[in-house]
Amino acid sequence: LRHFLSLEHLSRPLLEDILDTAAGFVDVGGRAIKKVPLLRGKTVVNLFFESSTRTRSTFELAAKRLSADVLTLDIAKSATSKGETLLDTLRNLEAMAADMFVVRHQDSGAPFFIAEQVTPRVAVINAGDGRHAHPTQAMLDMYTIRHYKGGFEGLKVAIVGDILHSRVARSQIHALNILGAEEVRVIAPRTLLPADADALGATVFTDMVQGIEDVDVVIMLRLQKERMDSALLPSEGEFFRLYGLTNEKLCHAKPDAIVMHPGPINRGVEIASEVADGPRSVILNQVTFGIAVRMAVMSMAISGQESLAAAQAAREE
Ligand code: CP
Repeated sequence: LRHFLSLEHLSRPLLEDILDTAAGFVDVGGRAIKKVPLLRGKTVVNLFFESSTRTRSTFELAAKRLSADVLTLDIAKSATSKGETLLDTLRNLEAMAADMFVVRHQDSGAPFFIAEQVTPRVAVINAGDGRHAHPTQAMLDMYTIRHYKGGFEGLKVAIVGDILHSRVARSQIHALNILGAEEVRVIAPRTLLPADADALGATVFTDMVQGIEDVDVVIMLRLQKERMDSALLPSEGEFFRLYGLTNEKLCHAKPDAIVMHPGPINRGVEIASEVADGPRSVILNQVTFGIAVRMAVMSMAISGQESLAAAQAAREE
């Protein structure tokens, strides 16, 4: 690895390597280990142009547990509000000897643009771009599935809700297909499916009960109102009636099916509290595993970046 921007063209061995590396950071209680020196002397800069609770905090904790120096730029209070361009901000952060940018941006493709612009010594991690990709979220979701289900072979996974605007769903579909899940299903009303839904790499359902029949994993997604045209916004009550996960609907999945959600959850919209807080919910475990998975991605990116730099130096000798 050097940059970690999307899962789309990554190999199964590489994704398995990320999961195995993350497992090495997790103690028997399932919590990330306290501290290792893998990123000592490195500087990680969190650049979150869009709001975040889980991703920003767990990247920060992951970097600290890898012994990196961490800077989380407060974008709202940064000089971008005085007219400084993104590129000038990056150049200044590079001048502070940043080794890694962790980027969340409302525009699809922004982390790719940044990766093209940075100097060769800097690695870029995509922490969610527009409706395009959220690769570390998908990897922590894969870690969670592997932890509870033992692997991906024979697994049926349903992803339910606002597929149209979900970068998480796109990355999860790529990851599940690469890792060999038996079937990936998406369940949503037509208005919350992309026009090319059949090309997503998943079986499409518009009926929730049919879609979750016999699945091993149910992943719920929130309505991304901030990315919706208000005229197309579904009524929350109607959405909950048809697509909200209740214990009654969950009865159609396998008896040992787990329930996941990347967060933030909207109770009573896409998920009932009885399910979110129920015995089959692993929603908070996902968050815990996120620290180890992000430690894995960051340490692999820095080590990939160092190998490239060493190869470059050898060529120049
Ligand atoms: N899952 C996720 O990306 O949550 P945050 O928006 O809180 O980071």
